[in-house]
Amino acid sequence: MKKLIIINGPNLNLLGKREPKIYGANSFEDFFKKLKEKYDNIQLEYYQSNIEGELIDKLHDVGFDYDGVILNAAAYTHTSVGIGDAVKGIETPVIEVHISNVHSREEFRHISYIALNAKGVITGFGLQSYELAIQSFL
Ligand code: DQA
Repeated sequence: MKKLIIINGPNLNLLGKREPKIYGANSFEDFFKKLKEKYDNIQLEYYQSNIEGELIDKLHDVGFDYDGVILNAAAYTHTSVGIGDAVKGIETPVIEVHISNVHSREEFRHISYIALNAKGVITGFGLQSYELAIQSFL
């Protein structure tokens, strides 16, 4: 059975409440429940943290064992050399995802410290971005 994990970064615990025009009205927990039901033939996990070091620790924990990481590092995408280095340092392929289309937004969101070492980037498809990433691993 394939082992995949979705890792969400800062402020994504507020999905459903936070800027719903950009990020939608659904909570991630509800969405994740539906994903688990739909993809019951894989081991699918979810982790969220607002803390950069915890995200790095989680990448180290899963990064030599899991088949894929789906990473929305949120604002840290655009700032964190540490998370970028963690993605480079692990063996498990990482797909960078974003709910919004970061390239149609402010210029600082066009920079990614993750993309350089990611298997690919999926941005702008709402919560479906996560599902597209899952499908790419199957
Ligand atoms: C985001 C885009 C980032 O620029 C932003 O900081 C987020 C969410 C997205 O999923 O669209 O928090 O990663």
